[in-house]
Parts: sequence; C-alpha cells; structure tokens
Amino acid sequence: MAKLIIVVLMLSSLFLAIPNVYARKQQGPEPKTSWFQSICQGKEKVAKVHFYVQDILGGENVTVYEVANASITSTSPTSFGQVRVLDDLLTAEPNINSQEVGRVQGLITSADLKTSALAMNLNFVFTAGEFNGSTISILGRNQIMDTERELPVAGGTGKFRFGRGYALTSTYSYDPITNYGVLEYTIYVTYVDESTISLFGDM
Ligand SMILES: *[C@@H]1O[C@H](CO)[C@@H](O)[C@H](O)[C@H]1NC(C)=O
Ligand SMILES: *[C@@H]1O[C@H](CO)[C@@H](O)[C@H](O)[C@H]1NC(C)=O
Ligand SMILES: *[C@@H]1O[C@H](CO)[C@@H](O)[C@H](O)[C@H]1NC(C)=O
Repeated sequence: MAKLIIVVLMLSSLFLAIPNVYARKQQGPEPKTSWFQSICQGKEKVAKVHFYVQDILGGENVTVYEVANASITSTSPTSFGQVRVLDDLLTAEPNINSQEVGRVQGLITSADLKTSALAMNLNFVFTAGEFNGSTISILGRNQIMDTERELPVAGGTGKFRFGRGYALTSTYSYDPITNYGVLEYTIYVTYVDESTISLFGDM
C-alpha cells in the first residue's frame, strides 16, 4: 500500500509539471481532455481485450507476405532472417465469418538462430465496440512453438493512450494443408476511460 501511494504521488507531480512545459513552449491552454484528468485522478483501469487473429498464409486470400530473406534463411532450421508483413483480420470468435473487430498490421521477423521465435512489431487497430478507432502496439519476442506466448504492450492511441500491459496468445487452430491459422489473443492493457471493461468474444 505504501509503495502504491508513492507511485501515485510521483505520477501526480509528473503530470502537474507538464502543463507548465506546454504553456511555455506553445503558449496554449493546459490539456483538459478526459484522459489527462483521469490519469491525474488515478482513474486508470485495465481492459481485458479478447479476440482472434485470422492468419492466412496460403490460398487466394493471403494476408501475410514475405518481404525479404537472408542468405542463411533457406538453410536455417528456424528460417532465420525471414521478414514478413501482415494485415490480418481480427474477429470476435474463432470463425472467420464472425464479427469483425479490427485488423492487426505489422512486421514479423524470424530472429532466433536456434529456436523458432519471431521478433514482432504489431499494431492492432480496433474497428468495433468501445475501442473503435483506438490502437494497441505490441513489440516483443514470440516463441511460436510454446503453447502460450507472452508479448509486451508497447503503447497505444485513442482510448489506449498511456497504455501499458501484456498480451497472451496461443494458436487456436492451424491447417498445414491450406496454411490457414487462427490465433487467440487476450490483451491486458491500461486505459483511462470511465466506462466498464470491454470484452470481445467469450472467454
Ligand atoms: C476468399 O474470400 C472470398 C471473399 O470473402 C470468399 O468468398 C472465399 O471463400 C475465400 N476463399 C477461401 C479459400 O477462403
Ligand atoms: C525464403 O526462405 C523461406 C524459408 O526457408 C522459404 O520458404 C522461401 O521460399 C524463401 N523465399 C525466397 C524468395 O527465397
Ligand atoms: C467505428 O468508427 C467509425 C468512424 O467513426 C465509424 O464509421 C464506424 O461505423 C464505427 N464502427 C462500428 C462498428 O461502430
């Protein structure tokens, strides 16, 4: 409890200092947006955002494309050096025809010489529900053969300004014939909205 109070006090002094800096630099008013006041008043909440990623690596509707290979990629057991770009559909349920809740766009690089692991740079943009228009950025290591992988939330925009947290992800299904995978994501991320925690899909 004592530690928590210290952190809150430090945060409030930090944010009290910011308006002065803004005023000097821009001669403008202090930010009066709801996120600013909510953080100052310690009203941060944690959202649990749950959805599925439609990862189509083959077939006519491919959403993941190879960008580059390294000289070692073709002989590497982990495809080291392969860089891919993706723009995958996010759905509320595992079925690709279930409610669309957004897209995930970014780069994935095979970046481990010995173990299959990706360096991921992903931007999730939500297009439905309470977080429509907001984004979450994830940057981290994904050891893809693990049943459950954890990735850090690097930040966000919109409702997720000042967002921090982590994502848990697992492979819901994968068809090696068609190269079609469905990934399950649960992201725990801070936000400063007044409304209640939002869920996409059933837990
Ligand atoms: C590709 O997308 C179209 C349009 O959504 C759909 O009709 C078709 O069945 C999809 N193809 C595959 C192989 O899923
Ligand atoms: C790049 O490497 C991957 C993995 O070895 C391979 O599947 C793919 O065909 C290669 N692509 C090119 C363009 O060489
Ligand atoms: C999401 O926001 C956009 C832009 O404001 C709007 O056009 C769209 O209808 C919204 N979608 C949903 C599902 O609410």
